[in-house]
Amino acid sequence: MKLIVGNWKMHGLTAALSEAEALKTALSATPTEARVALCPPATLVHQMSAVLSGSAIETGGQDCHDKPSGAFTGSISAEMLADAGAGLVILGHSERRAAFGETDAQVADKVQAAVAAGLEPIVCVGETLEQRQAGQAVAVVSAQVAGSLPHGLAERTFAVAYEPVWAIGSGLTPSLEQIAEVHAAIRSALIDRLGEAARRVPILYGGSVKPDNAADILATAEVGGALVGGASLRAEDFLPIIRAA
Ligand code: G3P
Repeated sequence: MKLIVGNWKMHGLTAALSEAEALKTALSATPTEARVALCPPATLVHQMSAVLSGSAIETGGQDCHDKPSGAFTGSISAEMLADAGAGLVILGHSERRAAFGETDAQVADKVQAAVAAGLEPIVCVGETLEQRQAGQAVAVVSAQVAGSLPHGLAERTFAVAYEPVWAIGSGLTPSLEQIAEVHAAIRSALIDRLGEAARRVPILYGGSVKPDNAADILATAEVGGALVGGASLRAEDFLPIIRAA
Protein backbone atom coordinates (compact mmCIF):
# COMPACT_ATOMS: atom_id res chain seq x y z
CA MET A 1 0.00 0.00 0.00
CA LYS A 2 1.41 3.39 -1.00
CA LEU A 3 1.73 6.13 1.61
CA ILE A 4 0.73 9.56 0.30
CA VAL A 5 1.54 12.44 2.64
CA GLY A 6 0.71 16.11 2.20
CA ASN A 7 3.18 18.58 3.73
CA TRP A 8 1.44 21.94 4.02
CA LYS A 9 4.64 23.63 5.29
CA MET A 10 3.84 27.13 6.64
CA HIS A 11 0.60 27.42 4.70
CA GLY A 12 -2.91 27.33 6.07
CA LEU A 13 -5.12 29.25 8.45
CA THR A 14 -8.25 27.78 9.99
CA ALA A 15 -10.18 28.25 6.73
CA ALA A 16 -7.84 25.77 5.04
CA LEU A 17 -9.44 22.97 7.07
CA SER A 18 -12.18 23.04 4.42
CA GLU A 19 -9.64 21.38 2.10
CA ALA A 20 -9.20 18.54 4.60
CA GLU A 21 -12.99 18.27 4.82
CA ALA A 22 -13.24 18.12 1.03
CA LEU A 23 -10.62 15.36 0.91
CA LYS A 24 -12.45 13.43 3.60
CA THR A 25 -15.75 13.71 1.73
CA ALA A 26 -14.22 12.64 -1.59
CA LEU A 27 -12.35 9.67 -0.10
CA SER A 28 -15.35 8.48 1.84
CA ALA A 29 -17.45 8.55 -1.34
CA THR A 30 -14.77 6.70 -3.34
CA PRO A 31 -12.21 5.09 -1.05
CA THR A 32 -8.57 4.79 -2.05
CA GLU A 33 -6.15 1.90 -1.80
CA ALA A 34 -3.52 4.29 -0.47
CA ARG A 35 -2.73 5.30 3.07
CA VAL A 36 -3.15 9.09 3.24
CA ALA A 37 -1.95 11.71 5.72
CA LEU A 38 -1.96 15.50 5.94
CA CYS A 39 0.71 17.42 7.88
CA PRO A 40 -0.57 20.96 8.52
CA PRO A 41 1.19 23.69 10.50
CA ALA A 42 1.31 22.82 14.21
CA THR A 43 -1.48 25.31 14.98
CA LEU A 44 -3.91 23.22 12.92
CA VAL A 45 -2.93 19.71 14.03
CA HIS A 46 -5.53 19.46 16.75
CA GLN A 47 -8.39 20.83 14.69
CA MET A 48 -7.41 18.84 11.63
CA SER A 49 -7.35 15.57 13.52
CA ALA A 50 -10.86 16.40 14.76
CA VAL A 51 -12.02 17.23 11.23
CA LEU A 52 -10.54 13.97 9.90
CA SER A 53 -11.86 11.76 12.68
CA GLY A 54 -14.09 9.03 11.35
CA SER A 55 -12.05 8.91 8.13
CA ALA A 56 -8.93 6.92 7.27
CA ILE A 57 -6.93 10.09 6.61
CA GLU A 58 -4.22 10.59 9.24
CA THR A 59 -2.79 13.79 10.67
CA GLY A 60 0.91 14.52 11.12
CA GLY A 61 3.31 17.21 12.30
CA GLN A 62 6.19 18.79 10.39
CA ASP A 63 8.88 18.78 13.09
CA CYS A 64 9.31 18.16 16.80
CA HIS A 65 11.86 18.77 19.54
CA ASP A 66 13.96 15.86 20.74
CA LYS A 67 13.07 16.43 24.42
CA PRO A 68 9.64 15.58 25.87
CA SER A 69 9.29 18.93 27.66
CA GLY A 70 11.41 21.72 29.11
CA ALA A 71 12.60 25.29 28.71
CA PHE A 72 12.65 25.36 24.91
CA THR A 73 10.65 28.45 24.00
CA GLY A 74 8.81 28.08 20.73
CA SER A 75 9.35 24.33 20.41
CA ILE A 76 6.85 21.48 20.33
CA SER A 77 7.58 17.98 21.61
CA ALA A 78 6.64 14.73 19.94
CA GLU A 79 4.36 13.96 22.88
CA MET A 80 2.55 17.25 22.32
CA LEU A 81 1.99 16.43 18.67
CA ALA A 82 0.66 13.01 19.60
CA ASP A 83 -1.53 14.61 22.25
CA ALA A 84 -2.93 16.96 19.60
CA GLY A 85 -3.91 14.01 17.42
CA ALA A 86 -0.89 13.47 15.18
CA GLY A 87 0.17 9.95 14.26
CA LEU A 88 3.16 10.86 12.11
CA VAL A 89 5.81 13.54 11.97
CA ILE A 90 8.06 14.75 9.15
CA LEU A 91 11.66 15.06 10.40
CA GLY A 92 14.87 16.34 8.83
CA HIS A 93 13.15 18.13 5.96
CA SER A 94 15.78 19.93 3.86
CA GLU A 95 14.12 23.26 4.65
CA ARG A 96 14.85 22.64 8.33
CA ARG A 97 18.33 21.31 7.62
CA ALA A 98 19.09 24.45 5.54
CA ALA A 99 17.27 27.17 7.51
CA PHE A 100 17.74 25.82 11.03
CA GLY A 101 21.05 24.01 10.58
CA GLU A 102 19.66 20.63 11.62
CA THR A 103 22.32 17.94 11.47
CA ASP A 104 21.90 14.21 10.91
CA ALA A 105 22.63 13.64 14.62
CA GLN A 106 19.89 16.07 15.67
CA VAL A 107 17.46 14.45 13.26
CA ALA A 108 18.33 11.05 14.74
CA ASP A 109 17.54 12.36 18.24
CA LYS A 110 14.20 13.69 17.01
CA VAL A 111 13.41 10.36 15.37
CA GLN A 112 14.13 8.64 18.67
CA ALA A 113 11.83 11.05 20.52
CA ALA A 114 9.07 10.68 17.94
CA VAL A 115 9.10 6.88 18.15
CA ALA A 116 9.12 7.06 21.95
CA ALA A 117 5.99 9.23 21.77
CA GLY A 118 4.27 6.72 19.49
CA LEU A 119 4.64 8.81 16.33
CA GLU A 120 5.76 7.41 12.99
CA PRO A 121 8.62 9.59 11.70
CA ILE A 122 9.07 10.32 8.02
CA VAL A 123 12.81 10.94 7.77
CA CYS A 124 13.75 13.22 4.87
CA VAL A 125 17.00 13.03 2.92
CA GLY A 126 18.13 14.53 -0.37
CA GLU A 127 21.04 16.05 -2.24
CA THR A 128 21.52 19.64 -3.41
CA LEU A 129 21.95 20.49 -7.08
CA GLU A 130 25.69 21.02 -6.58
CA GLN A 131 26.00 17.59 -4.97
CA ARG A 132 24.09 15.96 -7.82
CA GLN A 133 26.17 17.74 -10.45
CA ALA A 134 29.30 16.55 -8.66
CA GLY A 135 28.05 12.96 -8.92
CA GLN A 136 27.57 12.71 -5.15
CA ALA A 137 23.80 12.18 -4.92
CA VAL A 138 23.90 8.52 -3.91
CA ALA A 139 26.78 9.00 -1.45
CA VAL A 140 25.17 12.04 0.19
CA VAL A 141 21.77 10.44 0.56
CA SER A 142 23.19 7.13 1.84
CA ALA A 143 25.20 9.00 4.47
CA GLN A 144 22.13 11.00 5.52
CA VAL A 145 20.12 7.80 5.95
CA ALA A 146 22.86 6.23 8.05
CA GLY A 147 23.30 9.36 10.18
CA SER A 148 19.66 10.33 10.64
CA LEU A 149 18.42 7.01 12.02
CA PRO A 150 19.02 6.25 15.68
CA HIS A 151 20.28 2.81 16.58
CA GLY A 152 17.69 0.29 17.66
CA LEU A 153 14.97 1.57 15.34
CA ALA A 154 12.47 -1.09 14.26
CA GLU A 155 11.51 -1.32 10.63
CA ARG A 156 7.80 -0.86 11.23
CA THR A 157 8.08 2.45 13.00
CA PHE A 158 9.24 4.83 10.32
CA ALA A 159 9.38 5.84 6.67
CA VAL A 160 12.08 7.58 4.64
CA ALA A 161 11.42 10.33 2.09
CA TYR A 162 13.84 11.07 -0.73
CA GLU A 163 13.49 14.76 -1.56
CA PRO A 164 16.17 16.14 -3.89
CA VAL A 165 16.57 19.72 -2.66
CA TRP A 166 16.63 21.10 -6.21
CA ALA A 167 13.28 19.44 -7.03
CA ILE A 168 11.36 20.99 -4.13
CA GLY A 169 8.91 23.66 -5.22
CA SER A 170 10.83 24.09 -8.49
CA GLY A 171 8.69 22.13 -10.92
CA LEU A 172 11.81 20.08 -11.71
CA THR A 173 11.90 16.36 -11.03
CA PRO A 174 14.67 13.80 -11.44
CA SER A 175 14.25 11.25 -14.22
CA LEU A 176 12.55 8.02 -13.21
CA GLU A 177 15.96 6.32 -13.56
CA GLN A 178 17.51 8.80 -11.14
CA ILE A 179 14.67 8.27 -8.66
CA ALA A 180 15.07 4.49 -8.95
CA GLU A 181 18.84 4.74 -8.47
CA VAL A 182 18.59 6.78 -5.27
CA HIS A 183 15.71 4.75 -3.88
CA ALA A 184 17.73 1.57 -4.44
CA ALA A 185 20.66 3.16 -2.57
CA ILE A 186 18.36 4.13 0.31
CA ARG A 187 17.01 0.58 0.44
CA SER A 188 20.49 -0.81 0.63
CA ALA A 189 21.49 1.69 3.37
CA LEU A 190 18.40 0.57 5.31
CA ILE A 191 19.26 -3.09 4.84
CA ASP A 192 22.79 -2.40 6.06
CA ARG A 193 21.25 -1.03 9.25
CA LEU A 194 18.22 -3.26 9.82
CA GLY A 195 18.81 -6.37 7.76
CA GLU A 196 16.21 -7.85 5.42
CA ALA A 197 13.37 -6.50 7.56
CA ALA A 198 14.22 -3.10 6.07
CA ARG A 199 12.46 -4.14 2.88
CA ARG A 200 9.21 -3.18 4.63
CA VAL A 201 10.21 0.45 5.28
CA PRO A 202 8.29 2.72 2.88
CA ILE A 203 10.55 5.01 0.86
CA LEU A 204 8.57 8.02 -0.39
CA TYR A 205 9.57 10.36 -3.19
CA GLY A 206 9.06 14.12 -2.71
CA GLY A 207 9.80 17.13 -4.91
CA SER A 208 7.36 18.64 -7.43
CA VAL A 209 4.98 15.68 -7.37
CA LYS A 210 1.92 16.79 -9.36
CA PRO A 211 -1.23 15.13 -10.71
CA ASP A 212 0.45 14.67 -14.10
CA ASN A 213 3.65 12.96 -12.95
CA ALA A 214 2.41 11.07 -9.88
CA ALA A 215 1.45 7.83 -11.63
CA ASP A 216 4.86 7.39 -13.28
CA ILE A 217 6.76 8.26 -10.11
CA LEU A 218 4.63 5.98 -7.96
CA ALA A 219 5.15 3.10 -10.41
CA THR A 220 8.96 3.42 -10.18
CA ALA A 221 10.90 0.67 -8.43
CA GLU A 222 11.21 1.10 -4.65
CA VAL A 223 8.88 4.13 -4.56
CA GLY A 224 6.51 3.40 -1.69
CA GLY A 225 4.61 6.65 -1.79
CA ALA A 226 4.90 10.41 -2.12
CA LEU A 227 5.56 13.39 0.10
CA VAL A 228 3.73 16.24 -1.56
CA GLY A 229 4.12 19.95 -0.85
CA GLY A 230 2.36 22.53 -3.02
CA ALA A 231 -0.01 20.08 -4.67
CA SER A 232 -1.34 18.92 -1.29
CA LEU A 233 -2.77 22.30 -0.34
CA ARG A 234 -5.96 21.93 -2.35
CA ALA A 235 -8.05 18.78 -2.37
CA GLU A 236 -8.62 19.07 -6.12
CA ASP A 237 -4.86 18.80 -6.75
CA PHE A 238 -4.09 16.26 -4.02
CA LEU A 239 -6.91 13.86 -4.92
CA PRO A 240 -5.60 12.87 -8.36
CA ILE A 241 -2.21 12.16 -6.78
CA ILE A 242 -3.89 9.92 -4.22
CA ARG A 243 -5.89 8.25 -6.97
CA ALA A 244 -2.67 7.63 -8.92
CA ALA A 245 -1.55 5.41 -6.06
O1 G3P B 1 7.87 17.82 1.76
C1 G3P B 1 7.34 18.04 0.50
C2 G3P B 1 8.16 18.91 -0.33
O2 G3P B 1 9.34 19.41 0.15
C3 G3P B 1 7.98 18.93 -1.78
O3 G3P B 1 7.39 20.15 -2.04
O4 G3P B 1 6.02 21.71 -3.32
O5 G3P B 1 7.86 20.43 -4.44
O6 G3P B 1 5.81 19.25 -3.74
P1 G3P B 1 6.74 20.41 -3.48
